[in-house]
Order: sequence, then C-alpha cells, then structure tokens
Amino acid sequence: MGYDIKKLRQNFPVLSRQVYNKPLVYLDSAASAQKPVQVLLKEEQLYNNYYGNIHRAAHFMADQATADFEAVRDKIQKFIHAEFREEIIFTKGTTESINLVASSFCEKFLSAGDEIIVSEMEHHSNIVPWQLAAQRKGAKVVKLPFTDNGDLRIEKLPELINPKTKLIAVAHISNVLGTINPITEIVKIAHTNGVAVLVDGAQAVPHLTIDVQELDADFYAFSAHKLYGPNGVGVLYGKKKWLDKMPPYQGGGEMISEVSFEKTTFNELPYKFEAGTPNITSVIAFGAAIDFVLETGLENIANWEHKLLTYATSKIKEIEGVKIYGEANRKSSVISFNIEGVHAYDLGMLLDKMGIALRTGHHCADTVMQHFGIQSTARISFAMYNTKEEVDVFIRSLKKVRMMFK
Ligand SMILES: Cc1ncc(COP(=O)(O)O)c(C=O)c1O
Repeated sequence: MGYDIKKLRQNFPVLSRQVYNKPLVYLDSAASAQKPVQVLLKEEQLYNNYYGNIHRAAHFMADQATADFEAVRDKIQKFIHAEFREEIIFTKGTTESINLVASSFCEKFLSAGDEIIVSEMEHHSNIVPWQLAAQRKGAKVVKLPFTDNGDLRIEKLPELINPKTKLIAVAHISNVLGTINPITEIVKIAHTNGVAVLVDGAQAVPHLTIDVQELDADFYAFSAHKLYGPNGVGVLYGKKKWLDKMPPYQGGGEMISEVSFEKTTFNELPYKFEAGTPNITSVIAFGAAIDFVLETGLENIANWEHKLLTYATSKIKEIEGVKIYGEANRKSSVISFNIEGVHAYDLGMLLDKMGIALRTGHHCADTVMQHFGIQSTARISFAMYNTKEEVDVFIRSLKKVRMMFK
C-alpha cells in the first residue's frame, strides 16, 4: 500500500489553515509536531467521561483513569521494546528525564574528580544538567567532538574514557545537524569500560523504531510533543538495575511507601520517581498518538520523510550562497542552513509572512553554533504530514528572499 498523504493530512485539521492569507506550510516539527484529531478527541473523551485523580481513589472514574494511564505505560514499554514496564517513568519531557538522571544517578554514582562525557552536538537539555551535577560533585564534563560534516568522532571515545568516567550523554539524533548517531557502537565502547550511557531520544522517537534492549542504552529520554502527542509529558526509560539503586528525584505524592517524621520509605518502581499528580490527561492522550504513529507505520513515515529530505536538500543546494550545516551519511529529516548576506532571523520573519513556519536561532545548541563559528541558522524539519508541494513552496519563497537581499 502506498503512503496516502492526502488522507493522512485529514487527521491534522490545523494543516489546512491559512496564516497571513497564505496556506500554512509547517516545517517546524522538530520543535514540536502538530497533533492528530485522535489525540485531541482522547483528551476531550477523558474530561467528558471519566476524569479523576489516578492511583489513590477508590471510585469508578479514578479507577478507569488509572487503568488508562497505566495502559499507556504498557504501550510505551512495547513501543520502545523495554524489558519491564517499571522501567518506564513519566516525566514532563526530555529535559526533566535528563535532569532526573543527572540528579539521581549522579547523587549516587558520581564523586569528586569523576568525568561525564557529553557530545558536542547536544541540545542544552543534555549539557546543562550534567554541568550542574558536576558542579555539585566536583566532577568534570568532557567534550566528545564532531566533524564539520556532522559525524561524531567516536574514534576519540576510547582515549576520552578513563577510570574516572561514569557516564556518556549523547543524542540519538541531533536537532540541528540531523545526524543519526551510532548508539549501539557508542554503548559497546562505554560498557566495555564499565561506563553508563544516557541517550537523548527527543528527535529520534518520531522517526526511528526504538529498541532499547537492542541499543542496550542505560537510559533513554524523550518527549511526547515531538511524537504527535500533547506537551507536558515525557518518558525516561532506565534499566531496572540502575533505577533500583538510584535515590528518588523529587519527594511527595505517589513516590512514598510510608511517611513518618522519623523515617520515610519509598514506593517501588516506577512510582518512586513519579512524585505528585502526573499529567494524567496528556499521558492518556499520548497513548492515542502512539497508536496513530504505529498505524501509519514508523518505517513508512521514515521513508516518506527521507524522500522529502533528499529532495529538499538537492533543491536548497541549487540556490547560490546557501550553506547547509550537517551532512552526515545517516541523517534524519532536519536541514539547518544559512544564506550568505541574510541573517537567519530576517529569513525566518520573511518566510513566516509567506506562510512558512520554520525555526531560526541557536536551536538550544550553542556548542554546535560555536563549532561552526556562527550565531544562528535557519532550520526546516519534516514530519509524516509534509509534502513535496510544500517543499516547492518553501524553495520558491527562499529564492524570493534571496533576491530581496541581492
Ligand atoms: C535533541 C533534543 N533534546 C532535548 C530537547 C528538549 O525537549 P523538551 O523541551 O521537550 O524537554 C529537544 C527539544 O527540542 C531536543 O531537540
């Protein structure tokens, strides 16, 4: 069966709207994806029919909400092929998932003088939490560099690792360069040396089938909102052997077993790491997003996006004075670029008035900007719902902007 893009787009009513009297061309899904009606309906259905606070109330509504909430945990376990359901922890998003590990893992396993290796192509969310943990513990963050092409220099990894190294933090896919990093290889090198690995999967889950057991990563973090789900929800996958040993991240609510002023004991996994009322509605609606993605087929989505990536890259390259940042062999559907003589911010503003939504700035990845000696780039990113026609509109508009600055 072919990829029925027309039919698929009907699930996203927002895509047929206009902005500034121009049809919307949404090329900013790497920042956040649009939501299918299935997700919106699920939220409405919950609030209209069986909303209640989960886990602790013994009434029909709370029971039903709890069952649906926990069913999404099972769904995610299957979606990323985790061994145990209690390895799935709900958070606010990728950022909180990483902060949880940086806080709790480092509290237990990091000592003064230790080192954490962080790749140069990370989002700030996968740099700053490690810097904060390192400051608390008197440890050090060490950079794993990338090449000008956008490939991680993993040949450097064995020389960077030493007995003080406790963890490697790396993105599965870079949000600026689009590079798909060789996680299995990195994990193998790390584990040979007894080092744990945290993978930031924020940009990977919408495009790749994730098998955390095959990757063998110790931690895997992602957000629902980039995977066509609601915002305010994320997931931390962690190997049980680590999570069992790690202290709680936050105190309160469901994370306790018993509390007295003398001593508090903690709940079992995953609840030990889920303090307070979680984002019940968004977690349940996230389940609908995962169903939708699975029905569409991750492989179909990835193939479609790859065609758009190849087409758009070749068309952008035909334009004089354009530089693309990130041309790794294994690349996802993100293109960061600059046009000579045009500030990325101006480019974004002008394209916006033509109906095109794209991202400009440092993309929360200052170290990538520093690598290339630039302040900012423009970035387009594709999702399952983008079309070749939209790429054509974008290219025509880009050429217009280029002419304005000639
Ligand atoms: C690679 C990467 N990591 C982390 C994040 C942070 O995600 P969130 O803001 O959902 O926590 C992003 C968001 O753009 C990202 O692209």
